[in-house]
Amino acid sequence: MTSLVRFPRIVAGALRYSQAMSENAFWVEWHRQYDDPESPRSRRLAAVQQQLRDAIDHAPKGRIRLISMCAGQGRDVIGVLADHPRSGEVDALLVELNPELVADAQSLADAANLSNVKIVTGDAALTNSYAEAVPAEIIMVCGVFGRPSDEDIKQIITELPHLGTQGAVAIWTKEGVGMVDRRPLVRSFFTEVGFEEITYYTEEGTTFGVGSNRWNGAPLPFRPDRQMFTFRDVGAEARG
Ligand SMILES: C[S@@+](CC[C@H](N)C(=O)[O-])C[C@H]1O[C@@H](n2cnc3c(N)ncnc32)[C@H](O)[C@@H]1O
Repeated sequence: MTSLVRFPRIVAGALRYSQAMSENAFWVEWHRQYDDPESPRSRRLAAVQQQLRDAIDHAPKGRIRLISMCAGQGRDVIGVLADHPRSGEVDALLVELNPELVADAQSLADAANLSNVKIVTGDAALTNSYAEAVPAEIIMVCGVFGRPSDEDIKQIITELPHLGTQGAVAIWTKEGVGMVDRRPLVRSFFTEVGFEEITYYTEEGTTFGVGSNRWNGAPLPFRPDRQMFTFRDVGAEARG
């Protein structure tokens, strides 16, 4: 009898495990496009890195705290810090759920001798994941807006001033794929929340948008225990 009662729970547990495994495999595969320097993903990476270089160049004197949500292999941050003249002033925290990608990011950081880049396996949706590293001068939100609902995207953007300093720069990406191109919506969310748009960049023949927005408003307090988003299963639209 006991085993019959436990059976559905065992099946549900196995199903969850297999979903997590296929989700992990999906994101590992997603990163393979970076191996081709001409791919749209690599073009997007170059745009993100340019905006990050600009943000570091213009950051106030002194330590620069950087947090990265859903950091993947961390190529954007690590690629820039590898040769930026202010690299030694940056304390970076990269949060990524997939242990395989965390290991890749750690290898890249080690190869670049970046001891001030901390990479953690954790849930980027939870504000608590950033508690030790806020308020941040730079917040990377790249490849995050592909899966959450519009409400969640607005919620993430609303939370950013609570994770950043006055003057914090958020660097984000959004793919213009699916029935409706939601890049304009994301830009309008930033404006509605009170961010100034510094740069918005896209490229002929690609679907990506890369933006940088500054928070000029009053500093807002960190809010622990908040969940900002969930990643929905949106199939082919899941491009980040
Ligand atoms: C579209 S990729 C973006 C990776 C990287 N930011 C980039 O732009 O190259 C999305 C990443 O989010 C990760 N992810 C999904 N849900 C997450 C969560 N709740 N917390 C942390 N990472 C998550 C995935 O494993 C994947 O590496």
